[in-house]
Amino acid sequence: REFDEQFRPQYHFSPPANWMNDPNGMVYFDGEYHLFYQYYPDGNVWGPMHWGHAISTDLIHWEHLPIAIYPDELGWIFSGSAVVDWENTSGLGTGNQPPMIAIYTYHLDSGEKAGRDDYQTQGIAYSNDKGRTWTKYENNPVLANPGIKDFRDPKVTWHEESESWIMSLAVKDKISFYTSSNLLEWTYQSDFNPEWAAYGGVWECPDLFPLTTETGEEKWILLVSINPGGPNGGSATQYFVGDFDGKVFTTETTEVKWLDYGADNYAGVTWSDVPKEDGRRLFLGWMSNWLYANEVPTEVWRSAMTVPRSLELMKNGDDYSIASRPVEELEKLRESTKEQEGDLISLTSDVLEIEMKSLGGDFKMTFSNDQGDKLVIDKTDDLVLFDRSQAGLKDFSDVFAAVHNVPLKGVEVKDIRIFLDRSSIEIFFNDGKSVITELIFPTSAYTELSLQGMDSKVEIHLLKSIWG
Ligand code: FRU
Repeated sequence: REFDEQFRPQYHFSPPANWMNDPNGMVYFDGEYHLFYQYYPDGNVWGPMHWGHAISTDLIHWEHLPIAIYPDELGWIFSGSAVVDWENTSGLGTGNQPPMIAIYTYHLDSGEKAGRDDYQTQGIAYSNDKGRTWTKYENNPVLANPGIKDFRDPKVTWHEESESWIMSLAVKDKISFYTSSNLLEWTYQSDFNPEWAAYGGVWECPDLFPLTTETGEEKWILLVSINPGGPNGGSATQYFVGDFDGKVFTTETTEVKWLDYGADNYAGVTWSDVPKEDGRRLFLGWMSNWLYANEVPTEVWRSAMTVPRSLELMKNGDDYSIASRPVEELEKLRESTKEQEGDLISLTSDVLEIEMKSLGGDFKMTFSNDQGDKLVIDKTDDLVLFDRSQAGLKDFSDVFAAVHNVPLKGVEVKDIRIFLDRSSIEIFFNDGKSVITELIFPTSAYTELSLQGMDSKVEIHLLKSIWG
C-alpha cells in the first residue's frame, strides 16, 4: 500500500514523495478546498521551491494534483496566497467563471541577484480552469523589492469596507500592508511592529482576517510566524488581536500570544473565500520546525500538515484569545469508538483520537511501548510539561529530544482531546483554548497509555486512513 511507510501520517496531509514546507494559496472555490504547498520535487530536503497542489471536498481526503507553479527566470516560488477574483478586478478572467489568482514570492538567489538584498519580489499567476493550470502574469513582478532582504509571503484578502485588496507582507521583523484595486498594482500603506511583540527571529507568513466573538463583537486577527524565537524553541506562530481600518492595523493588547505552544506548528494561515454560510475561519499549519525539519527520520517524503482547525475568538473580561478547534469533518474518520475504564489502557493502533477529562488538579499521561520509548505529559501547578526526550528516535538532531511546556495561566484543564497519527501528536486542552502540536518518532507504536489524575472514563476512537 502507498502512504504506509514507517512514520507516514494516515490522516494528515503529506505529499506523495519528497520535501514539503509551508501551506500556500489556501482557497475554496466551487466546492473544492485547494491546498498548495512549498515543494521541492527532486529531493527530500529543502531546495528550489515550487507550489505543490492538492484538492479536497471535505478538508480530510485529498487528491494530489500536478505541481501548480514552477520556478522561472524571476526565481523560485516561495510562500504566498490565493484568492478568487469574483469581480474580475484583475481582468485576467477569460471564461464565465471568476479567475483564481495566486500571489507568491519570487526568490532569486542566482545570477546578478545572488547574495543581494533585493532578491525577493512578489509575482502572480492565474487560473481560469478551477486551479488545474496556472499562467504567470506577463508583467511580473507586481511588487518590486525596495532593498530589504526579507520581503515575502504575501497574504491577500478582499476588504469589504474599503472595497480593496489588502496584502499583508512579512518584511524582516515587521508586517507591511499594501492595498490594490486590481491585484496588479500595489500601494504601500503602513507597518505593524509593536515594541513588545516577539522578535526572536525573522517574521514570516502573516495572515489578516476578522473573527467574531460569541456575542457578535468583531476583531481583526493578525497571525505572524516567527523563526526562531518560539516559546519552545525555533519556529512558532504569534498572533495579535486588534482593529483594521483598511490601511492600518492597531492593537490595544501588549502581551505576546501564541497560537500553539508546540514545537511543530509553523507558517499556518487560513483558507480564503470559505462561503459565508459556513462562516468558519479554517486554519492549517506545517507540522515541523526549522530547527530539524530537514533531518527528521522519514524516508520517501518529508513533513505533514496539522489537522485542519477552526479558529474561534474568545473574550474573557478585556482579554481576547483564539481557540483552535479540530474541524468536525474529522469525526468522519472514526472507525470505532471504545469507552475504556481504568488507569492503564492498551492501545491497539497509533492512528487515534482520544477524549478524556481531568479531575481538575494535576495529572500525568504516559504513552509507552516495549522498546522503552515513553512520551510523558505531566501537568503540575500552572504548566503542562510535554516530555519527548525519550519518546523514540531523537539522534537526528541535538535539540529534538526536549521537555516543552504549555503555560496554563491559572486556568484548570477540564477536557483533553488528542490526535495521534504515528509520528505526530496534537493535544487540545479546554476545547482548544491551549494547544500543543509535536512530532514524535517512536521506534514502534505505543501500546500502552497510563493515566493519573484523570476521570477513569476515556474515549478512544480508532481512525481510518485517508489514503484508502
Ligand atoms: C517559512 C518560509 C517562508 C518562505 C518559505 C520558503 O517557513 O521560510 O518565509 O517563503 O518558507 O520555502
